[in-house]
Amino acid sequence: MTDNEIHYPDEFADRLEILWGEGFLSPGGVAEVEAVLKGIDLANKLVLDIGCGTGGAVLAIAREHGAGHVTGIDVEPQLIDRAQRRISDAGVADRVDLQLVEPGPLNFQNDAFDVVFSKDSIVHIPDKDEIFREIFRVLRPGGVVAASDWLVSESADASPEWVRFCEYGYLSFAVATAHETETVMSHAGFEQISTVDRNAWYAATIAQEVEQLEGPLRARVLEVVDKNVYEDWMDVRRALRDAVGAGALRPTHVRGYKPDR
Ligand SMILES: C[S@@+](CC[C@H](N)C(=O)[O-])C[C@H]1O[C@@H](n2cnc3c(N)ncnc32)[C@H](O)[C@@H]1O
Repeated sequence: MTDNEIHYPDEFADRLEILWGEGFLSPGGVAEVEAVLKGIDLANKLVLDIGCGTGGAVLAIAREHGAGHVTGIDVEPQLIDRAQRRISDAGVADRVDLQLVEPGPLNFQNDAFDVVFSKDSIVHIPDKDEIFREIFRVLRPGGVVAASDWLVSESADASPEWVRFCEYGYLSFAVATAHETETVMSHAGFEQISTVDRNAWYAATIAQEVEQLEGPLRARVLEVVDKNVYEDWMDVRRALRDAVGAGALRPTHVRGYKPDR
């Protein structure tokens, strides 16, 4: 992503929130946040959310999980504005800091966070080595990264459904496989690395999403965009459904621990 490029303008964020719930630009909403964080105690912890979007996960981490402090970072100013409104309206602004950042190294000190969270944002970051090295650096010893990321199968390039989806040039995806992700995490220094494949869940879910968008949600989407935009978007969503159904695109939960000193 280059400076000043807007991939999630307000009308697009509106559409995604109609589909996935207020505060979410990625599938599964708060239930997926809970699944990514399962078993991690966030009470009074210092948490970083990389690619916080419109703030749904930041809010859940601050309010439902009782984090001591949550820092959310994103590269798009209008998303930070929306997230800030959500956090202020929810009355948790005293424990949340939202920052507009440039892509690249994280602007935090070493060992600054107990937990680094990210939901479906690392797919937008091309330099996987750098981002996992940086996550490792800003985690305290014993800290954990728990993320959801859009990964691809080893054979995605041979999948006609994936190739067709890519031809739409939808967003700026820099996809990796689970093996590549585990390798860069290991090189960064992480231990107890695990990946949980969510392809089967999302294949079922996106099929329902497309039906919803063709049916009951259609009128709501047409309140924020015109029919041509809706039809074009549906073409992309059907192509994405097919790429997930073919097993090429594999949303995955990723976890790793920074060793205790
Ligand atoms: C699919 S959205 C997910 C947003 C949010 N995590 C959610 O689940 O609703 C991806 C987000 O990553 C952000 N993003 C892209 N590149 C980034 C970077 N280098 N650093 C931080 N955020 C980034 C985008 O602006 C967008 O908000």
